[in-house]
Amino acid sequence: MQLRYLSLCFAMMSLPLLAKTEQVSSPNGLIQVIISDDNHPAYSVLYRDKPLINQSKLGFDFQVAPSFREDFQITSVSKQSKQEVWQQPWGEDREIEDHHNELLVSFENKAQAASYRVRIRAFDDGIGFRYEVNQNTPLTIVRELTEFSIQDADKSTAWWIPARGWNRYEYVYNTTSLLDASLVHTPFTFKNRDNVHVSIHEAALVDYAAMVLDQRRPGTFVSNLTPWSDGVAVKTKGQFTTPWRTIQIGDKAKDLLNSRLILNLNEPNKLGDVSWVEPGKYIGIWWGMHINKNTWGSGEKHGATTENTKAYLDFAAQHGFDGVLVEGWNIGWDGDWFFNGDVFSFTETYPDFDIDAIAKHGQKVGAKLIGHHETSGNVSNYRKQMKAAFELYQKHHVSQVKTGYVADGGNIKRIDDQGIARYEWHDGQFMVNEYLYNVKLAAEHKISINTHEPIKDTGLRRTYPNWLAREGARGQEFNAWGTPPNPPEHTTLLAYTRMLAGPMDFTPGIFDMSFNGLGDKTNRPQTTLAKQLALYVVLYSPIQMAADLPENYLARPDAFQFIKDVPTDWEHSIALAGEVGDFVVFARKERKHKHYNGNDWYVGAITDEHAREIKLPLDFLDNDTRYEAQIYQDGKKAEWKHNPYELDIVKQIVTRNDTLTLQLATSGGSAIRFKAL
Ligand code: NOJ
Ligand code: CA
Repeated sequence: MQLRYLSLCFAMMSLPLLAKTEQVSSPNGLIQVIISDDNHPAYSVLYRDKPLINQSKLGFDFQVAPSFREDFQITSVSKQSKQEVWQQPWGEDREIEDHHNELLVSFENKAQAASYRVRIRAFDDGIGFRYEVNQNTPLTIVRELTEFSIQDADKSTAWWIPARGWNRYEYVYNTTSLLDASLVHTPFTFKNRDNVHVSIHEAALVDYAAMVLDQRRPGTFVSNLTPWSDGVAVKTKGQFTTPWRTIQIGDKAKDLLNSRLILNLNEPNKLGDVSWVEPGKYIGIWWGMHINKNTWGSGEKHGATTENTKAYLDFAAQHGFDGVLVEGWNIGWDGDWFFNGDVFSFTETYPDFDIDAIAKHGQKVGAKLIGHHETSGNVSNYRKQMKAAFELYQKHHVSQVKTGYVADGGNIKRIDDQGIARYEWHDGQFMVNEYLYNVKLAAEHKISINTHEPIKDTGLRRTYPNWLAREGARGQEFNAWGTPPNPPEHTTLLAYTRMLAGPMDFTPGIFDMSFNGLGDKTNRPQTTLAKQLALYVVLYSPIQMAADLPENYLARPDAFQFIKDVPTDWEHSIALAGEVGDFVVFARKERKHKHYNGNDWYVGAITDEHAREIKLPLDFLDNDTRYEAQIYQDGKKAEWKHNPYELDIVKQIVTRNDTLTLQLATSGGSAIRFKAL
């Protein structure tokens, strides 16, 4: 009797033991991912042997097919490892190392005749995992069930912007307890009680909806896919691979900035020879519209005139810029252009913009016209004209186009097959595909794209290197008219959030901050002049704008010299120090390029509203080399509110054995060129 009772107990106890658990570790062994099929497939993550992500569910709900939830068993696993170095045609580093261990787990539910795989990659700087589904019937996803259950959520601090809002990604960042982050965009960055810094994002977002994170229970975020206008999340044929769900992990804030995980999880270049893709610097007929000096539309203040553009091309060529962005050149801007998406022409110019003469002038002086396509969110109107629009630009030697999708979140207008207008989100599956269509078509015309009001970056520049940059956060323009303008800490937050996704067209370099007066009550950049310079090094983009009016640069030739010197393409980049929302210090070595010999280093340091002293050991510099350090620093009395312009330019000879002490004013910065001697 007793024996029978015991064996019954044993049988009952052994049931959970049937659950399978598999695991994979990062090459350095510090990160472990554990995946199991105990009732509901789930994963967890340990860092330095401590829980970081607790048991978090995996799976999907579909519109018709049964859910992928409980009762999926692990049926097979395979493992592999990779260590290779690959090259970027342009970027923050020429060489990137991809070193990871991979675990591929197959789950099956026999009763449902359903299966899927989860592929996990563990790197030293974090993990990525994705679903691979291969069913024979179309599947419409209504919910992805992926969870991120954060250990010690109540003791963690998070930095975030809200998702599904009218202003897309263009919000002031919040710093709160992690528990107060409700529905948030990624990259979603937080630090836990042990000061471990973590950022959740995704890589390779293709033919799928963007994932935003919904804190459904305290500390547990669930993937929330931005829906289509008909309410479903993702339409698939039954065979699909999701984007990688990524968790970047580091001991220090700067470790997140040195992570290349997002790029490593993207596919290699699919465009072949991309020597026609050109990083570089540009100016534009642009800021004048934002500060109401000019208009996009026709009339007396029209910015995009032939005469004005020629003068900008001359200025660009004289000062070493590659191109001139011209907005408001095409028919459609008159009236309230925010609502004009139906009437934009992408091939007809305003009568006072002679594109032939302008292109010829550009060729003569040696600067290119940079194109602009503002859609005001009417993507069907754009789609109809897109090919002709790129043909026109290609004919006029335009090799870079800035696109724009100004429309409230959820108000992208498309005309469906029945001729009915549908309204989509900027980050739903429809638009994810639309943005990429634009980039691929541009590539056929050897044109690179800089997307404004974009889908967030998920590293697709690796696969499509002509996708140079995008906006996707509050840029400089908010300092002209935003309510409020970007606060002093904004760029020190951007570095650890938005910038983890990829290059941003922030458009630094506003020299005249007094267009509405100084102080803290007006719209203006809430920075010092030195900080405007440092942003060129801190906020990485292969294309950087000198955003101010030419006359404001001519008024400050001393500071302008730094913008003229600084490259936009790098051999190597290192985040040296920083704390999220407080300060950032980056060092970058220039890449050999037509204007650069590849020997100089640059440093950018920025601070929030607090003045700060930073010790900068120069041990990143090359061995056996002497440099002239050309230091652009806040003057002794500089402070952002009333004395932003005071700038000291100091030159001294240094080697890698020296240490500099940087004094940053309130919302100040330092920008340094180390010119190899
Ligand atoms: C918003 C963009 O961010 C800005 O740069 C542009 O000038 C306007 N749209 C007009 O296209
Ligand atoms: Ca914008």
